[in-house]
Amino acid sequence: MSDPTPDLWRRVDAYLTDTLVGHDPALESAVADQSAAGLPAIEVAPVNGKFLHLLTRISGARRVLEVGTLGAYSTIWMARAIPDDGRVVTIEAEPRIAEVARANLERAGVSEKVDIKLGRAADVLPTLDGSEPFDLVFIDADKESNTIYLDWAARLGRPGTVVIVDNTVRGGEVANPATENPQVIGVQRGLEMLGRDPRFDATALQTLDLKGWDGVAIAIVL
Ligand code: DHB
Ligand code: MG
Repeated sequence: MSDPTPDLWRRVDAYLTDTLVGHDPALESAVADQSAAGLPAIEVAPVNGKFLHLLTRISGARRVLEVGTLGAYSTIWMARAIPDDGRVVTIEAEPRIAEVARANLERAGVSEKVDIKLGRAADVLPTLDGSEPFDLVFIDADKESNTIYLDWAARLGRPGTVVIVDNTVRGGEVANPATENPQVIGVQRGLEMLGRDPRFDATALQTLDLKGWDGVAIAIVL
């Protein structure tokens, strides 16, 4: 018999989603159109999107920086959490993906609050230097560059800025010191930086949702 645990955690995820998150047409259409465009279904789970939304509200964030837009699923969740005069700046490397994101943001009615910056994040982030500090930063792009993104999160933030990093457990592989997977190594380097760099105080939680076994790190800029 196969391990019943994955089935049980998927049922729990569905239960929590139905009970606490609900079903939103704009968010579900964003996922559907992302899939129709042939993009990978690697957006955050609904429970995780709602978590980002609540963290944004709890922190009172007005300016949000997102590294890795994809179909703008998480972008919509965070844009809905900021005031009308707030801004989500989200960075996407692929023009074709940015077009899907733009249409999804439009349909969700949040496009005026979102600024899509096209380009590789490592190139775009330095251009944001000197702008008003960001209150919350969500890092969810190529994992190999997590330390670069964390460095910019600290530089573009202020004391109290909330930093969230997606995909910090990778099915448990993060605890394998011998891993040769460059993405996992990138995640490890990012977590080590959060633990060691005096600019941050951080923790991370494992997550089990419809995306499988992964995790999310949360930090504050000191
Ligand atoms: C991958 C990236 C993600 O951001 C994610 O949430 C899941 C998977 C990936 O590149 O495989
Ligand atoms: Mg992710």
